[in-house]
Amino acid sequence: MSAREITEYEKYIRTEELLGLQKTDDELVCHDEMAFQVVHQVEELWMKLCQHELALATARIEADRLAEARNTLHRMYLICRLMAGQLRLLETMSPRAYFTVRSALGRGSGQESPGFNALLAKPAKLRAATKALLGRRGVKLIDLHREPARDAELFALLEALVDFDEAFQQFRQRHLVLVRRIIGGRTPSLKGAPADLLEHGTRQTFFPELWLVREQLFRDFVPGPPLFDGEDDDGPHHH
Ligand code: HEM
Repeated sequence: MSAREITEYEKYIRTEELLGLQKTDDELVCHDEMAFQVVHQVEELWMKLCQHELALATARIEADRLAEARNTLHRMYLICRLMAGQLRLLETMSPRAYFTVRSALGRGSGQESPGFNALLAKPAKLRAATKALLGRRGVKLIDLHREPARDAELFALLEALVDFDEAFQQFRQRHLVLVRRIIGGRTPSLKGAPADLLEHGTRQTFFPELWLVREQLFRDFVPGPPLFDGEDDDGPHHH
């Protein structure tokens, strides 16, 4: 085969390196391993992009550029939707083929995904920036929810944060459905009962106060005992 010059497109996209990152046909343990590897690689790329956007969204909130922050949050939402949607592809894999791939994986687990772990950690800064913004605007969440028109721009931004939070939860829920379909709900793994662990994760939220305020608002209409005020803690949360 004669060496040919690489095109501008190939140079820019770095197709040679990119397409060299998958096992060759000889190396694959079974046909479906290609889909398994490619989907994981693509997911890592989306998670990388999402982190990149997350940093910008945070900076824009800090700079009071709310309309632009919303655009960035919308992009993050779309990325999470894609991440969830493409899991469907791996449901075309038979459980038998998965177990063949699984044995080639060794002790590797999705829990070690660097993109996922970074995405769990980074929204804390976004959350802090949003809290500071509420302070600058001198408005309490509950009051804004009682009357969204009082600061429509701020309200829209908060809803964009909820969109992102919800889409990330949907990715985790979608993944749990995939796991149940491929390995079953009660199959033990190296690290205990995976479905239980994953189910616990699907209840985590990045911005618990934005979910809690719904319950608080509801109390305006249906009185009950006072609610826990989750505004002063951090880290991924459960609801
Ligand atoms: C055939 C497809 C898949 C199966 C059967 C599967 C199975 C599992 C299982 C059993 C766990 C629990 C931890 C463990 O036992 O290792 C897990 C965790 C995880 N997987 Fe997958 N997975 C699949 C595809 C994917 C894909 C495509 C991604 C994309 C990034 C992914 C990301 C993750 C993440 C991030 C975790 C940790 C989640 C958490 O701690 O909440 N998995 N997976």
